[in-house]
Amino acid sequence: MSEKKQIIITGGTGFIGSHTVVEVIKAGFDAIIFDDFRNSKPWILDRLEKISGCKIKHFDVDCNNYNAMSTALNSLQNVTGIIHFAADKAVGESVLNPVKYYENNIGSLTQILKLAKDFEIEHLVFSSSCTVYGEPASPIVTEETEIKKATSPYGATKIACEELIQFAVQSDQKLKATLLRYFNPIGAHPSAEIGELPQGIPNNLVPYITQTAKGIREQLTVFGNDYETIDGTNVRDYIHVVDLADAHVKALQRSIKQEANFCEAYNLGTGKGSSVLEIIHTFEEVNDLKLNYVIGDRRPGDVVQIWADPSKANNELGWSCKYTIKDALKHSWSWEQNID
Ligand code: WQD
Repeated sequence: MSEKKQIIITGGTGFIGSHTVVEVIKAGFDAIIFDDFRNSKPWILDRLEKISGCKIKHFDVDCNNYNAMSTALNSLQNVTGIIHFAADKAVGESVLNPVKYYENNIGSLTQILKLAKDFEIEHLVFSSSCTVYGEPASPIVTEETEIKKATSPYGATKIACEELIQFAVQSDQKLKATLLRYFNPIGAHPSAEIGELPQGIPNNLVPYITQTAKGIREQLTVFGNDYETIDGTNVRDYIHVVDLADAHVKALQRSIKQEANFCEAYNLGTGKGSSVLEIIHTFEEVNDLKLNYVIGDRRPGDVVQIWADPSKANNELGWSCKYTIKDALKHSWSWEQNID
């Protein structure tokens, strides 16, 4: 029997998943990756082993495939928890293809829950999103902020997945679940060995910025500057991906200490909002460059402004952010320059 607790990380070669693998190993667990590379590259595994200094077990499985996952689990021992990242996450794509998002995001979670029950895996940490809040009445959201009707199929799947997990906990004496609502993850590992690797044209702001700075993209378009905000552009809570990864370890450690079964949600943000123009200007300043950008039309569906009240996670998980926005924008640029 392996003395180290084994943690399955689905989507473990993705942006947040890969950074979480590093922190889980650093915390003394064994990380086992379930990933079919549909939204990442196999060489990320080599980078993860380089950073962690150890071999990392990986299974090339689709999380919708219960039989493949149970075959993998039959070869493992002492699997204590699952951190479930594997999902589709492009808001715009979800509007064009809602069936794909419901089938994959909700479908894979149903298989993960069956697996947890059948293999008596007690701890589940689930990758959720601030998108569940939609356009909040007040820009600062707590976990008690109203969960509104979804503004996209992607957001609808996150709300549905949270509800499914809550029902599963109520029905299953063993399951302890933590729902982590990410705000806007940015940055990269300080080693520049891993980071955000969008397939195709980036949907998100910071990878679009770094690809513009690198010359891959001609020009960044700022989607609107006529909003009721500090400078007319949208405001978001941008959180360093390593801080986000650390929160998953803290959530797991807290879950392992708990007696009763539970289902708790936590906002993972810095507690500070930054506008699009502030991010652009900070990127230019910390990396000593000029970015080619233009103000364009609004992007349909964009929330005007939202940032976290992270006090519940700070108090209950013993977690707080260590990195600044400047760190994140430096690290993202170093990573971008290190991609072949
Ligand atoms: C941030 C701001 C854009 C690109 C989404 C999901 C959320 C999470 C993170 C998965 C907005 C502006 C962007 C560009 C721009 N995803 N922008 N030009 O929309 O806040 O959140 O991604 O978990 O669930 O909803 O992030 O980075 O797309 O946009 O002006 O080329 O940057 O308008 O104001 P978003 P984003």
